[in-house]
Amino acid sequence: MENDPLRIGIVGLGTVGASVVNLLHNEAGALAHRSPRPLQVVAVSARDAGRSRGLDLSNIQWMDDPVALATHPDVDVVVELVGGAEGTARAVVEAALTAGKSVITANKSLLAHHGFALAQLAEKNGATLAFEAAVAGGIPIIKALREGGAANTIEKFYGILNGTCNYILTTMKKTRADFADVLAEAQHLGYAEADPSFDIDGTDTAHKLAILSSIAFGTRVDLGAVQCEGIRSVVFEDIQMADSLGYVIKLLGFAEKRGDAVSQRVYPCLVPKNAVIAPVDDVYNAVVFFGDYVGQVMIQGRGAGGNPTASAVVADLLDLANGRVSSAFGRKTENLAIAAPVPEESHEGCFYVRLMVLDKAGVVAQIASELSKEGISIKTLTQREQKIQGAVPLVFTTHACREAVMKRVLSHLESSDFLSAKPTMLRIEY
Ligand SMILES: NC(=O)c1ccc[n+]([C@@H]2O[C@H](COP(=O)([O-])OP(=O)(O)OC[C@H]3O[C@@H](n4cnc5c(N)ncnc54)[C@H](OP(=O)(O)O)[C@@H]3O)[C@@H](O)[C@H]2O)c1
Repeated sequence: MENDPLRIGIVGLGTVGASVVNLLHNEAGALAHRSPRPLQVVAVSARDAGRSRGLDLSNIQWMDDPVALATHPDVDVVVELVGGAEGTARAVVEAALTAGKSVITANKSLLAHHGFALAQLAEKNGATLAFEAAVAGGIPIIKALREGGAANTIEKFYGILNGTCNYILTTMKKTRADFADVLAEAQHLGYAEADPSFDIDGTDTAHKLAILSSIAFGTRVDLGAVQCEGIRSVVFEDIQMADSLGYVIKLLGFAEKRGDAVSQRVYPCLVPKNAVIAPVDDVYNAVVFFGDYVGQVMIQGRGAGGNPTASAVVADLLDLANGRVSSAFGRKTENLAIAAPVPEESHEGCFYVRLMVLDKAGVVAQIASELSKEGISIKTLTQREQKIQGAVPLVFTTHACREAVMKRVLSHLESSDFLSAKPTMLRIEY
């Protein structure tokens, strides 16, 4: 048994599944030195049996029914690479775990929605649920938090967790192009899906943040508690203004433990150019975490793509083959606490605000007066001369204040007669 092959069943042979099959085939010799048991793919399943995939599937059983694969007696471990929180992916993972078979998955959506219940199911049936590939693709951030950093109390972490958004924001800056044009180019290059909402509305980042929070803080995955805003409202003007003020704009996910509560936030924000995460551009991902003993740790690399993601899937397979098993979220499920969310309005920080103002006398004085009435102090104020559709951009940054107060001021300003559009508010972080 100890040296018997680890018999692998793979469901899903798309970008990631095909790369996993290729990696296991092409690197079999090197992997054999790292595993007491040969890693052997014995069965595969996908939607279309007739599709040409350019894969060598000889001696591998094709199964039309993915759930039958998941429970097949010849399969020791099921690799789920279909995607989605429900449907086939969920049915496959639940069937395998119920049958006591370990599961490796790259499916952040499934884990963000059902991670706690699936971890309980794995535990009940003596199976392992592993998902290094589900967060930040090839970056071993799960291992870093769950094993490498396990001696620490993690206070907080933040990261660039979506390569598509990072690519769009970076390219807007480099090419001075508008969001819509860059998004179209990203879709053409295969960096963004035909329906990009999952990425650009921050949902994908929220999924990954919820999974990492559970591991970092020992709490149950709570996707509903993530405050989430995407990058649709970021225009080139903001990127340019941020640059002249010494910042870059990034879509970040933040998580922080505050007593028994956990704050989880996803939004585009201004980051100083000298911040460690600021130079992480294009499709790259990065996570920075803070442990009480280790201090600050940053890990960065390719957060998506077939090969980087397959690298993480095969690392999980090697762990299984070597008998290195961990609880899914780093603790038994009975030790995962239910954390209260931190209300969004209690957030305190500095803000960047862009107002499109009509050319009228006394406008700046009125804005300054509204801010000072609420005790918000202005750090910088810039007015551009160039008119955009009859209005000029007036940008101010603030010293630290409560988010609720900032929003109240902006809602007052919105009803004034000198603004041509809704104010844009971005947080300034780090
Ligand atoms: N792509 C990445 O860079 C990346 C990075 C990190 C994590 N992930 C995650 O990895 C997973 C797979 O992503 P992917 O990009 O490889 O997706 P993909 O290219 O769309 O491949 C999905 C695969 O699942 C199969 N499939 C879909 N519906 C099915 C069904 N009802 N029954 C059986 N098979 C079905 C498809 O079959 P056919 O081939 O026959 O259509 C295809 O082989 C997802 O959870 C994703 O979030 C992806």
